[in-house]
Amino acid sequence: MRLRTVSRNYDRLAPVYDLADRWLIQPFVGMQDLRGATVRALGLARGDTVLDIGCGTGLNLPLLVDAVGPEGRVVALDYSDGMLRRARARVKRHGWRNVELVQGDAARLEGVEGPFDAVMSTWAMGIVDDLPAALDRAVSVLKPGGRLAILDLHRTRAQRGVRRHIVDPVVHFALRCSGVDSAEDLDGERLQRRWAAGKAQLEALLVDVHQETNVGDSGFLLYGAKAST
Ligand SMILES: C[S@@+](CC[C@H](N)C(=O)[O-])C[C@H]1O[C@@H](n2cnc3c(N)ncnc32)[C@H](O)[C@@H]1O
Repeated sequence: MRLRTVSRNYDRLAPVYDLADRWLIQPFVGMQDLRGATVRALGLARGDTVLDIGCGTGLNLPLLVDAVGPEGRVVALDYSDGMLRRARARVKRHGWRNVELVQGDAARLEGVEGPFDAVMSTWAMGIVDDLPAALDRAVSVLKPGGRLAILDLHRTRAQRGVRRHIVDPVVHFALRCSGVDSAEDLDGERLQRRWAAGKAQLEALLVDVHQETNVGDSGFLLYGAKAST
């Protein structure tokens, strides 16, 4: 998705994002458990530094702050001002002093000061227009031996059941009508091609790569480490 479109769409979505996550998507996909699985794949320890790419309203932040403790550092990046405003309110509400929010493009990571013990992203990388550059940058800001975990969709529709035949078509219709996603964004074959190349790129950049390929019936969780030099 082009950056201008990311801003327009996610700024608009920001006020209802957490409600939709909790009441529309969570009951079908169990997003909270998947966020937890992604953070666990990072093997974080207290005092670690971690980067969340495409952090949105900051729904991963409680898990990350808990894992690294007050002596650790959490950096969260997003391009949408509206989403970041929500994340900022969350940080203020919780009184977290070790969370830094950065506005920027995942393909560049300008303004992000690494290196990090861990880098993660949930349901954001697949949207980034220049996915190869974003994956390269994500690995480049890792310390040697640092861990990367990506949770994302590699199908635009679940494979079977009520999700495939009712929920996903309704969600697609709503996304198209509201202008959040274009036909291109909802093109399942295009997404599969993008991630086939993206995963091959990560296999080449990382060691000890593991992948769960049927997460929530349409997604994957891929994690691995940057080689220690
Ligand atoms: C579906 S939301 C996921 C948000 C959050 N990771 C979560 O798990 O709830 C996708 C997020 O990716 C962000 N995003 C999309 N393209 C981006 C880019 N090129 N650079 C930075 N953020 C981007 C959007 O602004 C949005 O907040």
